[in-house]
Amino acid sequence: MTPDFAPASDAALPLWLVWAGDPLPDDAGGWPAACGFAGKAGQICLLPDAEGGLRGALMGLGSRTDAARDRFPLARAHALPQGDWRLAALPDGLDPDRLALGWLLGQYRFTRYKGAPSQGPRLVCPEGVDAARLRAIAGGEFLTRDLINTPASDLGPDRLEAAARALANDLGARIEVICGAQLLKQNFPLIHAVGRASAIEPRLIDIRLGDSGPMLTIVGKGVCFDTGGLNLKPGASMGLMKKDMGGAATALGLLSMLARSGDAAGLRLRVLIPAVENSVAGNAFRPGDILSSRKGLSVEVNNTDAEGRLVLADAMTYAAEEEPDLMITLATLTGAARVALGPDLPPLYCDDDATATAIQDAGMAVGDPLWRMPFWDGYEPQIEPGIADLDNAPAGGMAGSITAALFLRRFAQGAGRYAHLDIYGWQPVAAPGRPKGGVGQGARAILAALPQILVR
Ligand code: BES
Ligand code: MN
Ligand code: ZN
Repeated sequence: MTPDFAPASDAALPLWLVWAGDPLPDDAGGWPAACGFAGKAGQICLLPDAEGGLRGALMGLGSRTDAARDRFPLARAHALPQGDWRLAALPDGLDPDRLALGWLLGQYRFTRYKGAPSQGPRLVCPEGVDAARLRAIAGGEFLTRDLINTPASDLGPDRLEAAARALANDLGARIEVICGAQLLKQNFPLIHAVGRASAIEPRLIDIRLGDSGPMLTIVGKGVCFDTGGLNLKPGASMGLMKKDMGGAATALGLLSMLARSGDAAGLRLRVLIPAVENSVAGNAFRPGDILSSRKGLSVEVNNTDAEGRLVLADAMTYAAEEEPDLMITLATLTGAARVALGPDLPPLYCDDDATATAIQDAGMAVGDPLWRMPFWDGYEPQIEPGIADLDNAPAGGMAGSITAALFLRRFAQGAGRYAHLDIYGWQPVAAPGRPKGGVGQGARAILAALPQILVR
């Protein structure tokens, strides 16, 4: 599904966005009040013409003090009747880009297994907005959502590779994949150990775009299904684990945004995805196993359900060998991140204050919020078990998102700067512009921060 605007036309009906309590357009007369229109967020009042036809509509924005509740207010306008619409005016205090992007994001439907719904209303791109750029951004986000929503039965490591190949081909990017026993030969022992119990071979997907300029490497967690392994998750916790490749899906969506918006120009981009299924079989890795990593650090597996940090560790080591200017991990890494900040606000970790601030500020500005949490050195002893260099699952589980981030940081040396996003990748309850289901987190923040964080 491709996000798009309606072609500009005089026939498009005007839509007025109105803050609660503000004066209404003069010619609306007493009709809105008679209909009970109060400007509540998303409240729509259709305006009839003299012949009983439709001549336009009002939609409420709610009160200005509540505006921060709504990331994408214009997405609510998808409740308008079918037909072409245009914004009659830009409301004060709202960013036209954010409004228009919200409209595009609100078009998303996951249609793979169920026919597409009937055509809804269309919107002419508001003036002063770069429609092509917003299409690139929304298109990348739709790719992310489609990948997350596709169940493991149709998106195992092999099919995730196929999706990455299709994207790389479309973008003219180079792609290499290291698969199965080759992972052992080429020294990716952790990726192999986590993925070897699956009927579908584990693999490392490696995409590159551009060959000069500062280098950005994104590593996305691609656990296509997370049963927990021998430390099996209970049913209720396993239910959503098709989304455990949300980091990979967000990395691919970001690559698509960067390439199609033109923002990739003058950069060396690399996307690395360890793609595995954390499964149960006789050859599964076990609690207590001590594994050696690509970096040479030994890891005691104290919980096979802390698999994400294991596969990321080898991919990060590989990434860091090339010394990128900036490395970013995107991963549905811990339940603890949800306990701390909930599904909407992923933790962002970065030791470089300027980079952290730039990403967080950009995220707030574009409706892709993140919240900074610390790589707290004081908790380092928790990931050191004594019997090996590292423990993948500290007992007690306190500060679980931080200790997972500290584990990853051990594998980032070599990269100029390192940032980690512990994302959720799922919208549990539909919100404007974000239907229930898979959702990208962090990609638009990184895209918007790019001019600050990688100087070309
Ligand atoms: N994929 C999960 C984390 C997760 C769970 C993300 C639920 C979003 C929602 C990850 O592999 C995991 O199972 N982490 C464990 C780590 C623990 C065993 C140290 C967790 O968070 O419980
Ligand atoms: Mn797990
Ligand atoms: Zn996982």
